Amino acid sequence: MSEVGTRKVLVTGGGTGIGRAVAEALLRAGGQVVVSGRRVEVLESLTTAWPGQAFALPCDLASLEAREGLLRRAAGLLGGLDGFVHSAGQVVHQPPGHIGEDALRAQLEVNLIAPLRLGEQALEVLEPGGAQVFIASTLATRPVVTSAVYSAAKAGLLQVMKVLALVGAARGVRASAVLPGVVETDMVREVRLAPGAGPLSEPEYARRQEAQLAGLRALHPLGRLGRPEDVAEAVRYLLGASWISGSELVLDGGLLLRE
Ligand SMILES: NC(=O)c1ccc[n+]([C@@H]2O[C@H](COP(=O)([O-])OP(=O)(O)OC[C@H]3O[C@@H](n4cnc5c(N)ncnc54)[C@H](OP(=O)(O)O)[C@@H]3O)[C@@H](O)[C@H]2O)c1
Repeated sequence: MSEVGTRKVLVTGGGTGIGRAVAEALLRAGGQVVVSGRRVEVLESLTTAWPGQAFALPCDLASLEAREGLLRRAAGLLGGLDGFVHSAGQVVHQPPGHIGEDALRAQLEVNLIAPLRLGEQALEVLEPGGAQVFIASTLATRPVVTSAVYSAAKAGLLQVMKVLALVGAARGVRASAVLPGVVETDMVREVRLAPGAGPLSEPEYARRQEAQLAGLRALHPLGRLGRPEDVAEAVRYLLGASWISGSELVLDGGLLLRE
C-alpha cells in the first residue's frame, strides 16, 4: 500500500510540465489523481490515458468562484483526498518600469493567492496524515532583474506553506515546498523579449530559444536543466514523508551554489 498523502491527490497545473509529471508518477504508483488547469484538452489527454484513475476539474484558478470548493469537488470525485499539489503557476519576465498591471495581478493570483486559498481548503478536506506540496522556485530566494513579481509571489508562497504546516499539524496534515532551478518545460521555452521588442520571425524565434536554453543550462553547475521527472520524484517523496512538514527542498542542479 502506498503512503498516505500519495493515494488520492489533486494536482493543479496537472495537464503540463511539472504538474503532469507529478500526476503520472502518482498514477504509475497506483494512486488516483484529479488534475486541474484551464485547458480542457491537455487535461483530457491525461484522463483518457488513465481511465478510472485520473479525473479532470478544469478551472481558472485566478477566478474566486472557480476555485471555491475545488478541494471538496476533487474529494467527491475520488471518494476522499489525502494529497494536494499546487503546480499551477505563471511567470512574466519584466524589469521594473515595464511591469504590466495584468501580468502583475495574474502572477499574484495563481502563484500566491490561489495556493493560499486552496491550502486553506486542504486543511479542512485532507485526511489526517495527508500532505500538501507547493512548487515554489529558486527565484523565491534569488531573484533576477525581470522576476520582481514572480519572486515576491513565490517567496510569499513559502511563508504561506509554513503557516499551513503549523496549523495543519494539529490534524496531522503536513505541508512542504520544492524550489526547483530551471526545469525544461513550456514555461522556459518562451523567449524572453526586451521591453517593446517586436515579434520575431519563426527561424529567429527558434534561434533565440536555443540560445536562451543554452544560457540557462550554463547557470547550473551540474550542466543540465531539470527534467519534470526530477521534481515529480521529490514531490511524491514529500507527499508521503510522514515526519516532514514545513520543509523547503531545493532541487536545482547546484544553481544556488553560484555567487
Ligand atoms: N519550469 C521551470 O523552470 C520552473 C522552475 C521553478 C518553478 N516552476 C514552477 O513550477 C510550476 C509548474 O510550471 P511548469 O514549469 O510545469 O510550466 P507549465 O507547463 O507552463 O505549467 C504551468 C501550469 O499552470 C497552469 N496554469 C497557469 N495559470 C493558470 C490559471 N490561471 N488557472 C489554472 N491553471 C493555470 C497551466 O495550465 P493552463 O494553461 O491550461 O491553465 C499549466 O498546466 C509553476 O508553479 C512554476 O512557477 C517552474
